[in-house]
Amino acid sequence: MNPVSAPKFTPHSVLVIGCGSIGERHLRCFQHTGRCQVTACETNASLRQRVADTYKVRVTDDAANAIDSSEFDVVVVCTPAPLHVPQAIQALNAGKHVLIEKPLSHALDGVADLFAARERSGRQVAVAYIYHVYPFLVAARAFLARGEFGPVLHATATCGQPFHVLRPAYAGIYYRDRATGGGGIQDALTHPVNWIESVVGPTDSVICDCAHLALPGVTVEDTVHVSARNGNVLVNYTLSQFQHPNESTLQFNAVSGSVKIELHRQRWGTFAPGARDWVWHDAPVPGHDTHFIAQAHAFLDQIEGQPSRLCSLEAAARTLRFNLAALAAAEGDCRIHLRELAAPF
Ligand SMILES: NC(=O)c1ccc[n+]([C@@H]2O[C@H](COP(=O)([O-])OP(=O)(O)OC[C@H]3O[C@@H](n4cnc5c(N)ncnc54)[C@H](O)[C@@H]3O)[C@@H](O)[C@H]2O)c1
Repeated sequence: MNPVSAPKFTPHSVLVIGCGSIGERHLRCFQHTGRCQVTACETNASLRQRVADTYKVRVTDDAANAIDSSEFDVVVVCTPAPLHVPQAIQALNAGKHVLIEKPLSHALDGVADLFAARERSGRQVAVAYIYHVYPFLVAARAFLARGEFGPVLHATATCGQPFHVLRPAYAGIYYRDRATGGGGIQDALTHPVNWIESVVGPTDSVICDCAHLALPGVTVEDTVHVSARNGNVLVNYTLSQFQHPNESTLQFNAVSGSVKIELHRQRWGTFAPGARDWVWHDAPVPGHDTHFIAQAHAFLDQIEGQPSRLCSLEAAARTLRFNLAALAAAEGDCRIHLRELAAPF
């Protein structure tokens, strides 16, 4: 082989299933890596045609056949939550690597089978909790892991955005129903929960209050308060999906200092004992696609044998249990210990 003409990377063939809001982004961002061919699978005919025209990709409407096709080595599951586990299991059984959108599912059904399918297949699985590639979050977590301020004892996440402005279609998609992965807990709060668990460890128990307060056209919760215990760490989450500022702030408090992360400013800061103000570290990236291109590269790196930088199946399953525990705690007006939820994996 002429080394000059050899491709820089192994080319991959990626099937993106579901080309709605996030699937189209994955399609575009995997394409942008220059490391793969992309094919789109979408059941909505007009959307399928628009994607074919816009990105000059091959399209299909038949996920079951496409997953089994020997043409692809990677499947990206971007359908609503109830389809994530069955489509991922089929893909693993067909020998594909699988990147699954968040949340892992809306229920525990089939999750044990998904773990078994991964073990049998020997293929790679990651869950697309996008925070794992935000450079300012990666830097803040690395700082906390070094332990300069001592162990984290207390964490807070104060998150909100005008969901109706950012996602005007919300009332007509999966979001409108908890059974399809909707509502603020499964759809939005799950991001900071998953990331905070990656910093302070798994959640042990939760108390949750939530309500539908304002978003028109839906009855699912748009406002959430959760008080959690992750080992010895007390964690508090608040979410508003109708507030106008699109702002999310996370803070980690240790005896010898605090770390604050402002997602809306793409920066993290430290506050040491005796300091007069935060010392900020900015790590902005231009445009939201930048993170998704980084995520696509990270998954392709992972299937080429490099260590994973993305959310693991194990971590996503833990966050799924948080989602279900928070919903159960709100319904039952009680504290739920996650060990009480059946977890056959
Ligand atoms: N990581 C993120 O930042 C992020 C952002 C938005 C959504 N999501 C997650 O991604 C998933 C999809 O969300 P969305 O906002 O793109 O939803 P969406 O409703 O915009 O898109 C889902 C698409 O899947 C298609 N579809 C459904 N069943 C199909 C099948 N069997 N075969 C092919 N196509 C099928 C639908 O026609 C639709 O176009 C959800 O789990 C959601 O929580 C993640």
